[in-house]
Amino acid sequence: MITMKGIILSGGFGTRLYPITIAVSKQLLPVYDKPMIYYPLSTLMLSGIRQILIITNPEYVNLYQRLLRDGTHLGLNISYAVQEKPRGIADAFLIGEEFIRNDKTALILGDNIFYGKGFSEILQNSARLTEGAIIFGYPVRDARNYGVIELDDTGAPISIEEKPGYPRSRLAIPGLYYYDEKVVEIAKRLQPSQRGELEITDVNKLYLERSELKVVVLGRGFTWLDMGTYEGLLDASNFVKTIQDRQGFYIACVEEVAFRMGYIDKNQLLSLSKQFNTPYGEYLRAVAEGDHYITSDYI
Ligand code: G1P
Repeated sequence: MITMKGIILSGGFGTRLYPITIAVSKQLLPVYDKPMIYYPLSTLMLSGIRQILIITNPEYVNLYQRLLRDGTHLGLNISYAVQEKPRGIADAFLIGEEFIRNDKTALILGDNIFYGKGFSEILQNSARLTEGAIIFGYPVRDARNYGVIELDDTGAPISIEEKPGYPRSRLAIPGLYYYDEKVVEIAKRLQPSQRGELEITDVNKLYLERSELKVVVLGRGFTWLDMGTYEGLLDASNFVKTIQDRQGFYIACVEEVAFRMGYIDKNQLLSLSKQFNTPYGEYLRAVAEGDHYITSDYI
């Protein structure tokens, strides 16, 4: 039984997507056939996490509530909190303190997509963490826009830097982090960086200094995309369309994930399917009715 809690950080102004995001929240934009936030939400769900806090700007809370309500229809318990100003990723632990209480927490950024065979197992192992922190490393061509992790020959982390001009490795750190109960106290001790933010990289550095940071490399054959730019947004939509059209398996279909994880039963899924008079609704119906091909495999 996984007791870890989950936070989706869906704040910010999405300025790199202007004018698209002048009037709407970035993480509600369509990524092919579903809202962006479905992708990180499905990742938390596949981890076995069912208590989820969504943090967003004050003006967007009601939109997320309209989309996901209290999560009961997905077998989840979803609550909402406000980030008044974009004070950085680690601010999520200050805003989420009451929600976290004395539990472990996974944090995912609202614009990150993960997809790959065997991912559910990696996620569930991470959610069973007993002490310290688990983060990921993903090789990218140009790591300068990310947190960058350097590993030694045994795979143990040596250094972490936020957006280095000269990265020491090609391993970017994706926006998915698993922490033990200490994370709130650690976040409280942080000082804002030069860009005026509480950096998640500084949290990870503190775990590294205590030798409590584990890095799991998601290598070749695995997909991690972020959707903060025009190109990233279109690449993600194209990626999802390509895989779904080709294989007939949907990516980040949260209703399917809820069903496969045993959070909802067949009848609940069937009734959800009736809300959508679209291919999405048809897919839900096929999943509920046990279409052999669709149920034969899952990430
Ligand atoms: C943030 C983090 C960075 C991480 C990235 C992943 O960057 O600061 O360490 O690699 O998310 O998406 P930002 O979104 O602030 O550019």
